[in-house]
Amino acid sequence: MEIQYQETTSDLLTRIDIHQKYGGRDIDQWMLDLLDMPSFPSAGRILDVGCGAGKQCLLFHRALGGGVNQKSRAEITGGDVNPELLAKAREENARLGNPLTILDLNFNQRFPFDDNQFDLATCCFAIYYAVDIPFTIRQMHRVLKPGGRLFSTGPMPANKQLFYDLIREATNNKPIPPMPGSSRYGTLILDAMKATFANVEVHLFENPLTFTEVEPFLAYTRASLNEDRKIWGSFFDEVDTFESVMARIAEAAARRLERQGKLVMTKVVGGFLAQK
Ligand SMILES: C[S@@+](CC[C@H](N)C(=O)[O-])C[C@H]1O[C@@H](n2cnc3c(N)ncnc32)[C@H](O)[C@@H]1O
Repeated sequence: MEIQYQETTSDLLTRIDIHQKYGGRDIDQWMLDLLDMPSFPSAGRILDVGCGAGKQCLLFHRALGGGVNQKSRAEITGGDVNPELLAKAREENARLGNPLTILDLNFNQRFPFDDNQFDLATCCFAIYYAVDIPFTIRQMHRVLKPGGRLFSTGPMPANKQLFYDLIREATNNKPIPPMPGSSRYGTLILDAMKATFANVEVHLFENPLTFTEVEPFLAYTRASLNEDRKIWGSFFDEVDTFESVMARIAEAAARRLERQGKLVMTKVVGGFLAQK
């Protein structure tokens, strides 16, 4: 089934910004540590699949010694289908003197690379939007060199419990549609990765976002529901319109804040690290 999914630049960047401002832990550092970047081979090649505005490409660029007009010691390529996000990635790449390769890449199609090209493939918060997840995983496997690694991140079932609790409270327990990420990432998607790669490690990252006011939580919720609105499908109807649900979530969040003095929404992310 094709998942109708269109990320908007402002929604994605809003969420990234809120993670950075209100989170206690740094997912970028967690990923760099897991990947042991100091040992990354010189002139090694990295492919970031579903690169969005280039967050991971830019992180690798800096972690591998790159700067403005300063190449890193790796060759970094990012690919995505969203023109708006690709434009953002290209804008930042240009500002740095174009050390990265940013290309149009639809992960539902055969990747435009020969076999055995990359030392590392990454796919952060994106694999669950693939039409045929095993196909996309096999493409990433195909373009990796023997011994090359795939690193993927996505939400585990316990992700963002507060967000779902307050939506349930605001809608009198209206059933929430299964989310393509958290409902499958730790099960079906992990199994698909194990079916293609002999060796898959599972790592967990937990990041409590702590809000002492409702506004940033509501901004996050708005940016998440917007992103997911097609996925949420039947959830919004003539009675429960997006704005009416948002207004009731705001009331539920205010009540919770009054009772508990803070709102804590914990991001629970799985990092799957596989080797070819
Ligand atoms: C939540 S965003 C994550 C972006 C980036 N990796 C990050 O962490 O900031 C999911 C990304 O998957 C991309 N995506 C969705 N469908 C895709 C497809 N068929 N081929 C390539 N990328 C796709 C979206 O355009 C979006 O950039």
